[in-house]
Amino acid sequence: MYYDPNIQEILKTQKDVYVLGIESSCDETAAAVVRNGREMLSNVISSQISIHRLYGGVVPEVASRNHTLAVNDVVDEALKKAGKTLEDIDVIAVTYGAGLIGALLVGVSSAKALAYASKKPLVKVNHIEGHICANFVQFPDLKPPFISLVASGGHTNIVRVEDYNRFELLGTTTDDAIGEAFDKVARLLGLPYPGGPEIDRLAKQGEPTIKFVQNKGVKSDYSLSYSGLKTAVVNYLHNAQQRGEEINVPNVCASMTKTAVDMVVNTVIEAGKNSGLKKIVLAGGVACNSYLREKLSNDGKKAGFEVYYPSPVLCTDNAVMIASRAYWSVTNGEDYADLDLNAYGSLKVGERK
Ligand code: KG4
Ligand code: ZN
Repeated sequence: MYYDPNIQEILKTQKDVYVLGIESSCDETAAAVVRNGREMLSNVISSQISIHRLYGGVVPEVASRNHTLAVNDVVDEALKKAGKTLEDIDVIAVTYGAGLIGALLVGVSSAKALAYASKKPLVKVNHIEGHICANFVQFPDLKPPFISLVASGGHTNIVRVEDYNRFELLGTTTDDAIGEAFDKVARLLGLPYPGGPEIDRLAKQGEPTIKFVQNKGVKSDYSLSYSGLKTAVVNYLHNAQQRGEEINVPNVCASMTKTAVDMVVNTVIEAGKNSGLKKIVLAGGVACNSYLREKLSNDGKKAGFEVYYPSPVLCTDNAVMIASRAYWSVTNGEDYADLDLNAYGSLKVGERK
C-alpha cells in the first residue's frame, strides 16, 4: 500500500479533514479544496464551453484533450486559492463515473498520480451523488434523510438520500435527460450551446401558450420521458414553417420549459409525499433554471416540504461537490480506491464499480 494503512483511524481523530476534489466528466475541468465536507476553500473551474459551442455540443475527444491541457493548472490554482499545499491535503477525490469515458480518464489519471506522489489515499466519487452533496456545502446544517432531484445534461434522477452514504434511485428518465431536452430544443431554435441557459433567458420574455405534450400524470414508478417533448417541438416548428407562420421563440421556450419542468416537479413531489420525508433537495445543471427553482419552491412548500437548491455555480459541474461527497465516504471507511482505479461511462446512483 502506498499510503498509511491506518489512515481511516487517523482521519477520525483529526479535527479537520481536507479533501482535494478533481472533476473532468464532461466539459469542465475542475478542482477544489473542501474542509470537513462542508466548507469550500476553493472552487476552480476551467470551462470548455466556448470551444464546444463551435460544434453545437460537446465533442468527446476534444473534451479529453482540453482536460489534459488544463488539469495541472486547475489543481495548482485550487490549492493556491485554498492557501494549501499538497502536503496539507488528507485525501484526493476524483469523479470516476458517470460521464464521457475519455474525459473521466484524464481526471482519474491525474488524481492517481497526485495520490501516489503525495502518499495520500485516493477516493472514487460517483458524479451524480456528488451533485447532491453540493447542497451540504451550500447549507451547512442540511442533514439526510431527504428526497433529491438531480436534473442535469446527462441525468434526471429522483433519489432517496437516507444517509450521507446511502443513495437509492427511485425514478429516472426512460430516454433523454431533462438537460438534453433543453439542449436539443435550443439547437432546433438555432440557439448556442449549452441551450439550457439560453432557453431560460428567453422563456422569461414569453408565455407558455403552446401545448407540446399531454400531461399524462405521475407514473407509479416515477419514470419520466423527454424524447416526446423534443419530437413535439420539431413537429411544431415544421408545421409553422410550412404554413409560413412566424415562430415566437420566447413562447416556444416558455412552453417547452413549463412542460419539461412541470412533469418532473409533480413527480418529485409525489415521490416526496410517498417517502414520508420532509425535505426536497435540488441538484445538477438544470437546477439553475429559474422556473424549476420557483415551481419546486412554491409547490414543494405548499405540499409541506422544506426545499433546498444550491447557488448556480454549485449546480453545474464543479469539484466542490466531488470533494464533499468523498468526505462522507472516507470518514465511513468507504470508496477508497487503488491505483488500478478505472473510469466508467455509465454509473448509476448508489452503484459502485
Ligand atoms: O450538471 P451539468 O453541468 O452537467 C452534467 O452533469 O450533465 O448540467 C449541464 C446541463 C446542460 O444540459 C445545460 O443546458 C443545463 O444543465 N442548464 C440549464 C440551465 N443552466 C444549465 N438548463 C435549464 N436552465 C438553465 N438555466
Ligand atoms: Zn454533472
